[in-house]
Amino acid sequence: MSDQPKSMDEIMALCKRRGFIFQASEIYGGIQGFWDYGPLGAQLKKNLRDAWWDDVVMTGCRGQAGPDGQPIRIVPVDSCIIQNPKVWEASGHLAGFADPMRKCPGCGHFVRADHLWDLLAESSVWFNDLIQVFDPHTGGIDSPRLLQWAKSKGKRLAPNLALVRQPEVTLSWLATRVQGQPGVPPDMKELTRYIATEQLHETGLQEPCPRCGAPLGEPAPFKLMFESYAGLTQDEDNKVYLRPETAQGIFINYKNVLDSTRVKVPFGIAQTGKAFRNEVTPRNFTFRSREFEQMEIEFFCHPDESRKWYEFWRDWRMNWWESLGLAGVNLQLREHDADELAHYAKTGAGTSDIEYRFPFTAPGFGELEGVADRTDFDLRQHMEHSGAKLEYFDQERNERYLPHVIEPSAGLDRGVLAAICEAFTPDPDRPSKVYMKFHPRLSPIKAAVFPLVKKDGMPEVGEKLRAELVRRFGRLGSIDFDEKQSIGKRYARMDEAGCPFCFTIDGDTMQDQTVTVRHRDTLAQDRIALDAVLAYLGEKLGL
Ligand code: GAP
Repeated sequence: MSDQPKSMDEIMALCKRRGFIFQASEIYGGIQGFWDYGPLGAQLKKNLRDAWWDDVVMTGCRGQAGPDGQPIRIVPVDSCIIQNPKVWEASGHLAGFADPMRKCPGCGHFVRADHLWDLLAESSVWFNDLIQVFDPHTGGIDSPRLLQWAKSKGKRLAPNLALVRQPEVTLSWLATRVQGQPGVPPDMKELTRYIATEQLHETGLQEPCPRCGAPLGEPAPFKLMFESYAGLTQDEDNKVYLRPETAQGIFINYKNVLDSTRVKVPFGIAQTGKAFRNEVTPRNFTFRSREFEQMEIEFFCHPDESRKWYEFWRDWRMNWWESLGLAGVNLQLREHDADELAHYAKTGAGTSDIEYRFPFTAPGFGELEGVADRTDFDLRQHMEHSGAKLEYFDQERNERYLPHVIEPSAGLDRGVLAAICEAFTPDPDRPSKVYMKFHPRLSPIKAAVFPLVKKDGMPEVGEKLRAELVRRFGRLGSIDFDEKQSIGKRYARMDEAGCPFCFTIDGDTMQDQTVTVRHRDTLAQDRIALDAVLAYLGEKLGL
């Protein structure tokens, strides 16, 4: 990727134009935090989910041995979205799964307390207006203009700002910060904070609402779980919750799996499925949605072996994302600092994030997958709350213990978004001006067959080839067939869809039984035998 981040607006426009992702309920004006996948997006998402399923569950990490030298054992489950509410009591979600929110009594806007300063600097009306007269990067501070702003617009837009309430004091402080250090650009967050509330203690100011500038109320917890009712009466007794993670469906089935299969610790249980969170600020396209899909593994091991299994999974999952084309500078592995550890992670237990540099996070990164040592927290909680005996008797060690759990927890929608952002490649020299450079495994369209013209037997040869390709590769993605429009336009359409190979039947095909292979990434065109196309594509798709 060049230093310039790709344009998210252009990526979203392509997603809609070509049918990757649509706004949910679009014809009714949409619904915030929900997204639907169109024909290409649904297949792309399935391909990513299948890649995970095949590589993790079906082949046990592609047949790789674990740190104990043994094959990796993983079995799948598919648990319900709605469970007994006691599950969420035990997991800690009922009591703790909430964001601290602050309400603006002026305009009714809710702000996530820990996002306030980012929001203020990013999108607040008064800040955007203020910045017009205040540009410390170029002109230092223009006190008379700022004073005028404070007295006129400031009073209307954000009457609670320190700059509006005590302009002289604020301006003299700003003057020392902005003009006192030539050549050193001031920290805009620090300046914003001062303009807004630094004099809080003296003046009784409260942090202002990013929308209207009125003082915000105190933080209060905002529950993230969606609620519903199961049963005839819609009362507390029948209240249920949509799962906020797929993980708990695994923990509550751990004993069933042990009793019904021949798995032995160490082993993993995996599942993919929807999770729901009433996110306060859904944003950045599908990155933070209210309904999304997870791909989670809970890997159960002996407590003494948790560190080596944690390291194994952390590195293996990072390599897996790389193997699907998210390589290089846009992917990073970040170990958590001690103060970031989740409630279940013991001190010293590993927790790391695999992060992707999305265009909207650049130059920073956004989480794609978390790999955490959850210790025995969840099994212990469920054992205590349910009374079920969840300890494991290890025959080899002749020891009874509660296994520790390593959890690689990936977001499928975030993975799809990363694959789309990575694939999006502007190219001014192509008719389409952009092409989607998907890894062939992920491409929703695996190949296209194009009879050059609709006569001279070419459509019939093309149809036959298409049918053979569908029979062989159709379960992996679609095979496009198109005999209309100029060949250039057909290639351009496939470039935008990310189809890696187009096979063109032309006049020579009828003479010598060869076809043209057109490569999406290099634009190279090779000639291969018609009867070699299946083997050729199979090899390119890594089959
Ligand atoms: N069981 C652990 C767990 O759920 P998490 O970090 O909250 O951990 C795991 O979620 C993954 O799910 C994240 O890395 C992210 O990819 C995805 N995810 C979480 N919240 C999301 C949201 N609101 N929208 C889309 N994906 C989300």
